[in-house]
Amino acid sequence: MKILNIAKKHEALLGDDFQVYFTPGRVNLIGEHVDYQGGFVLPVGINLGTYAFVSKRDDCFFHVLSENFLGLGTKIITIEELENYELDELEKYEYQKTEISELYQLDNKILNDLKKYKINRKKNNELDGWTKYVKGMLRAFLKNGVDFSHGLNIVIFGTLPHGSGLSSSASLEVLIGTILNDQYSCNLDPFEIAIISKNVENKYVGVECGFMDQISVASSVINTAMLLNTNTLDYRHIQLKLGEYSLIIANSNKSRRLDNTKYNERQNECSIAVSSINKNGGNIDYLCDLNSDNYLTYLNFISDEVIRKRAKHVICENLRTLDAVEALKVDDIILFGELMNDSHNSLRDLYEVSCFELDTLVDSFRFHGAIGARMTGAGFGGCVVSLVKTNNILDIISKVQQDYLKIVGYSADFFPVKSSDGTRKLESGDLL
Ligand code: GLA
Repeated sequence: MKILNIAKKHEALLGDDFQVYFTPGRVNLIGEHVDYQGGFVLPVGINLGTYAFVSKRDDCFFHVLSENFLGLGTKIITIEELENYELDELEKYEYQKTEISELYQLDNKILNDLKKYKINRKKNNELDGWTKYVKGMLRAFLKNGVDFSHGLNIVIFGTLPHGSGLSSSASLEVLIGTILNDQYSCNLDPFEIAIISKNVENKYVGVECGFMDQISVASSVINTAMLLNTNTLDYRHIQLKLGEYSLIIANSNKSRRLDNTKYNERQNECSIAVSSINKNGGNIDYLCDLNSDNYLTYLNFISDEVIRKRAKHVICENLRTLDAVEALKVDDIILFGELMNDSHNSLRDLYEVSCFELDTLVDSFRFHGAIGARMTGAGFGGCVVSLVKTNNILDIISKVQQDYLKIVGYSADFFPVKSSDGTRKLESGDLL
């Protein structure tokens, strides 16, 4: 009901003939910081996500408004500005570069232009705020030859805590992709929409994320987790039978901005690890090409201690994810929880992407009876995901909240979540 009230509130913009779309967020259960090194990840689409109310316009403008950023008002996006977005050529260079060394071989003019492009992109993105995701997607569809014969009014309403590692940006990108696909009859499947969304995130927004977020919010299936091989992009849905346990997400409220963090630095460290291994006789594309029989030998090829720690996390986390799937298959939730704990410890000690706030939540959840608790997403703030006894949820939440408040000095937010289907148009029955 609440959802439809939002459409009512914006009737002046939407009119009364509108359609509703939903894209979930995702929580990654295990397999963290491996998706840019060809590893396995295990995300679940969740029942928090992003809604859109959409109506057709007679002109060719796009009027977009977010209930979550009402202060920014309605933004009007024109086809001209999408067409005139600068420097396609340079974007191409940037996208194609696989190694920094390759970039240095480009001539000076290109390098300088590239620098300018990046500065301008940052400035434009700051000015555009949340609408950068909408513009990026619109532009991608335009460049793929979609004819915007009419414009749209789009009202967005998100229930995901913003910027907290639950893929609010992928959710919005895939949502816009789903809307455009439907409204302009593009016949794309969710996988194709996810690919476009990831490219927009990498090139237009400028965040070098892997593929996990976009594909999981596009194609999740209720009561399952998605085992995604980020090397081949093959995926399978694994039954998620949690028995007497439930998932709780806790937002540390320590905000993180993925594009401002050490995320890209970690990616770089992994590339250095791959080069060190290959320089010493290895022959791998990704760290996750290594397996439990050979990785110890290869790790010794890395002389830098920090880089070795990073590589060890990625390799072992990948193997752990496969173990976790085996645990799910035999309904061994306790083992699954232990593997979640190991994952967090490795992210904290080897990959060093956790932080005081996340560790405080994890320790408190474990102390009060969670069978598994770990940071989820990029880290440096954001959320923790825990497995707790369903009949104890409220009690645990209140105890962890007290601990957190006492130790950190401000509150966390808690969301008991359920799994959800992926991106879709909602029927009127779904909204009641
Ligand atoms: C962010 C990125 C993902 C993934 C995670 C870490 O959420 O968007 O692609 O790399 O961090 O697992």
